[in-house]
Amino acid sequence: MRVIVTGGAGFIGSALVRHLVLVQGYDVLTIDALTYAGNMASLKEVEGKPNHSFLHADIRDAEAMAKAVNTFKPDRIMHLAAESHVDRSITGAADFILTNVVGTFTLLEAARHYWNGLEAEAKAAFRFLHVSTDEVYGSLDHDPEALFLETTPYDPSSPYSASKAASDHLAKAWHRTYGMPIVVSNCSNNYGPYHFPEKLIPLTILNALEGKELPVYGAGENIRDWLFVEDHARALDLIIATGRLGETYNVGGRNERKNIDVVRRICQVLDRLRPADEPRENLIRFVTDRPGHDARYAIDATKLENELGWKALENFDTGIEKTVQWYLDNEWWWGPLRDGYSGERLGLLEKSA
Ligand SMILES: NC(=O)c1ccc[n+]([C@@H]2O[C@H](COP(=O)([O-])OP(=O)(O)OC[C@H]3O[C@@H](n4cnc5c(N)ncnc54)[C@H](O)[C@@H]3O)[C@@H](O)[C@H]2O)c1
Repeated sequence: MRVIVTGGAGFIGSALVRHLVLVQGYDVLTIDALTYAGNMASLKEVEGKPNHSFLHADIRDAEAMAKAVNTFKPDRIMHLAAESHVDRSITGAADFILTNVVGTFTLLEAARHYWNGLEAEAKAAFRFLHVSTDEVYGSLDHDPEALFLETTPYDPSSPYSASKAASDHLAKAWHRTYGMPIVVSNCSNNYGPYHFPEKLIPLTILNALEGKELPVYGAGENIRDWLFVEDHARALDLIIATGRLGETYNVGGRNERKNIDVVRRICQVLDRLRPADEPRENLIRFVTDRPGHDARYAIDATKLENELGWKALENFDTGIEKTVQWYLDNEWWWGPLRDGYSGERLGLLEKSA
């Protein structure tokens, strides 16, 4: 099995590459432009493996994408490369449009031309998975019991989620129009090892560890449905292998938490694993909310569970324990990132470009 993973030097992409290379034994080509979010250190566990190779390239580069697919000759393409941070998309949306929308279009076209040229058997077996987010569905503000289904209408709030929604539509259209064998997955918030420390969970762990203030947006009442990244990687492998063509599969761990409860839980775990002079909850500070901050996301993963037999192996308590422990054990990975990244608050309108 030969698989191209775009965005494989990022958070979820690197978890997927580790799974495909080390657990499945597939031949994997990682393609990544190594933006601020891409990090070769996240691929350390597959470094030097004969079944892994890396291509430093941009998905917006049509020539490079055509050459990559025509040379590597993949059975599967798993597309994760994206600009992924909502706050950054508010401060400057251009890269989100160019990578998430134009880049996805460019990759789809390279894949389509390659697929068109395949022999009948290889053509029938080829698969393209477009990896997306539950944020395309908007916010579940009004009904605390409601869940995102695959049929929930798209209603994105941020430049990030709007760009992902656009790319989802492109992927679906390339299936309907050209008959390309495409599947789309929409996942809830991920957490786990190798997560860039601008996102809530790694930022909180590292600030708490260093005795710094723990910023919580608004009143901390926003709810996210957390999924351990390795559960997501297994889901993606299963969806591309057995998902029905042209379908969407929602991926989520049934682990809804208010942001403030996530932050408190991290403080409790850290206080136990690495005791400090006073409870780290004292470091919590409520700060100005994110503009257009969606109130609640929650995924119904029944289709993925019933149809494809996937199940999350971690719940939030076991996953967060593993995650905090990983950050305690792996300063070699996050230390250089903390030194090179100011942690400046992004996504406030008065500072927007
Ligand atoms: N993180 C989440 O909670 C979450 C949830 C659901 C879906 N997703 C989706 O999963 C995918 C991966 O998310 P992530 O959290 O790992 O993101 P990430 O920001 O950690 O990684 C993105 C990777 O893409 C690369 N990249 C960016 N622009 C590129 C370009 N033009 N060409 C080639 N590579 C480029 C970056 O260098 C980086 O390695 C994204 O498509 C995202 O929308 C993320």
